[in-house]
Amino acid sequence: MRLFTTAAGLRCYLERHRRAADVGFVPTMGALHPGHLSLIERAKCENALVVVSIFVNPLQFSPTEDFQQYPRPLEQDLRLCEQAGVDAVFAPTPVELYGNRWSMSNSGTQLTQVVPPTPMTSVLCGRSRPGHFQGVATVVTKLLNLVQPERAYFGQKDAQQLAILRRLAADLNLPVTIVGCPIVREESGLAYSSRNQYLTPSQKAQAPILYGALQQAETVFQAGERDRVSLISAVKSGLALAQDIQVEYIELVHPTTLAPLEQVEDSGLLAIAARFGSTRLIDNIVLQNRKPIVAIDGPAGVGKSTVTRQVAKVLGLMYLDTGAMYRALTWRVLQEDIHLDDEPKIAELASLSQIYLTTDESSGSGGRVLLDGEDVTKAIRSQNVTANVSVIAALPAVRSELVKQQQRLGCKGGIVAEGRDIGTHVFPDAELKIFLTASVQERARRRQQDLKEQELPEMSLEELERDIQQRDFRDSTRAVAPLRKASDAIEITTDGLSIDQVIERIVTLYHQRVSASV
Ligand code: PAF
Repeated sequence: MRLFTTAAGLRCYLERHRRAADVGFVPTMGALHPGHLSLIERAKCENALVVVSIFVNPLQFSPTEDFQQYPRPLEQDLRLCEQAGVDAVFAPTPVELYGNRWSMSNSGTQLTQVVPPTPMTSVLCGRSRPGHFQGVATVVTKLLNLVQPERAYFGQKDAQQLAILRRLAADLNLPVTIVGCPIVREESGLAYSSRNQYLTPSQKAQAPILYGALQQAETVFQAGERDRVSLISAVKSGLALAQDIQVEYIELVHPTTLAPLEQVEDSGLLAIAARFGSTRLIDNIVLQNRKPIVAIDGPAGVGKSTVTRQVAKVLGLMYLDTGAMYRALTWRVLQEDIHLDDEPKIAELASLSQIYLTTDESSGSGGRVLLDGEDVTKAIRSQNVTANVSVIAALPAVRSELVKQQQRLGCKGGIVAEGRDIGTHVFPDAELKIFLTASVQERARRRQQDLKEQELPEMSLEELERDIQQRDFRDSTRAVAPLRKASDAIEITTDGLSIDQVIERIVTLYHQRVSASV
C-alpha cells in the first residue's frame, strides 16, 4: 500500500496505475471503524484500484465544533487500510490541500467554495451546522478532481451528506457514480461513528436507544402509518426512557430531495440527531413505501431467465426483462443504420430512447416492449438483433444509460430482474438477492443436452467445461458490469435441482424474507 501526503505524489501514482482499471474512492476523516471498512470492502469488490483519503477537513467544522479534538489515529488507520487491501492512502495536511489561502480563523473565506442548494442544507443537521455542507461539498469536489474515480463511496448514516453529494455530482456533471452503502451497527444497534469514542460508558449504554426508537417508528410504518406526526411521535415515545439525552431534531424528509414530508408517498427518510452529554450523534432509517424487488444474478447457463420469468409469474410481480431493453436499443441502432463502432452516437440514442415494459401476458413472452411508444415486442426477436445485441450491450455508455432506465422502471418496486450486476449495481437495495449458480460440470452437462435437443453440432464435456470456465473468467473480470455475488445475496447451487425446485426455493425465500416484512 502506498501513502501520499501531496497531490503531486497521488496524481503521479494514479497516472501510472490507473491504465484501464476502475478506481474506487473512499473519502474519510480517519478514525476508521467497521462502517468505513464496509465502504472499502464494497469499493474493493467493484474496482481494480482503491484509494482512501484521510483528511480532517477544517472547512466543515464551525469554530465551536471539535476540529482540534477530532481523533487522528493515523498509524492505526493505515494498518486497517493495509489489512483491507487498499492500494493507496491520500492523507494531506490542510495547507497541502487548501494552500496558504486557508486558515481556521477566517474559515476559508479566501477559497473558492462549492455551495449546495439551500433547501438541502437548511434542514436536518444544516440547521445547527451552518456552512458544514458547503465545507463537505468543497472538499469532496477537490478530492474527486484529484482522484478522478469511477465510483466514490459514502455511508447512509450521513444520509443528508449522501443526498447532497448525489445532487452535486448530478448538477455539476461530475464523471463519478456516488455509491451509498448501508449503515453498519454495533451489536447493540448503535451506528458506528468516529465520535462514539467520546461517549462515557453510561452514555454508550444509552445511545442504542436512537436506533430502537427509529425501529419503533418502522414498526408503526409497516402497520400502515404514513403520517409525519404519528411517525415522529413513535420515535419520541421510543426515546421516552432515555435520561441523559438532548434531542436536536427528529424529522421526516424525502431521501433524495430532503424536502420535508407530511406523508410518506414512495419513500421517507426518518432522521434523528441527539446529544449525549457533549457528543452529538445522528442516525436514520429509510421507510420504503414500495413493493419488493427481487434481484437474481449468476453466471451464464444456469437457467436464470427461465427461473426469473417463472418466479415473477408465481409472485405476481413484473419481470423486468433487461435483455429486451438491450434488444430494443439494438433494433433502433440497426434501424437507423448507425455503425456499431460509433459509441458516442449509440450513447446519444440510448439516452434519448424511452423503453417501457408492460406486464401484458398476451404477447407470449411475458410482456410487451415499447420503444418511444412503438410496440417492438416482435421486432426485437429478429435474427439481426440477436446477432448484434451482445456488442451493443457491452458498450459502457449504453450500460450506464440503460441502467438508469432500469432503475426508473424499478423505482416503485414490484419487479423481478435477472442479470450479472442487478443486486450489486442496478438495485443494490433489492429486498431479496439471489445468486444462482451451478458447478461447471453441471452446466456443461446441461449445455450438451441443449445442443442435442436443438440438433446442433455436438461438443465434448471437456470442451464445454473449458468454454464455461473461460466465459466465467471473462464475465467476472470485465470492466463493465462484471459478474459478482452481492455480499447479502443468498446463493443457490442448482446442481441436482429441477427448474421447478429452484423456483419453489426462491418463492419460499421471498415469503420468508419479504412478505414477513411488508
Ligand atoms: O463523511 C465524512 O467523513 C466527511 O464528511 C467526508 C465525506 C470525508 C468529507 O470530509
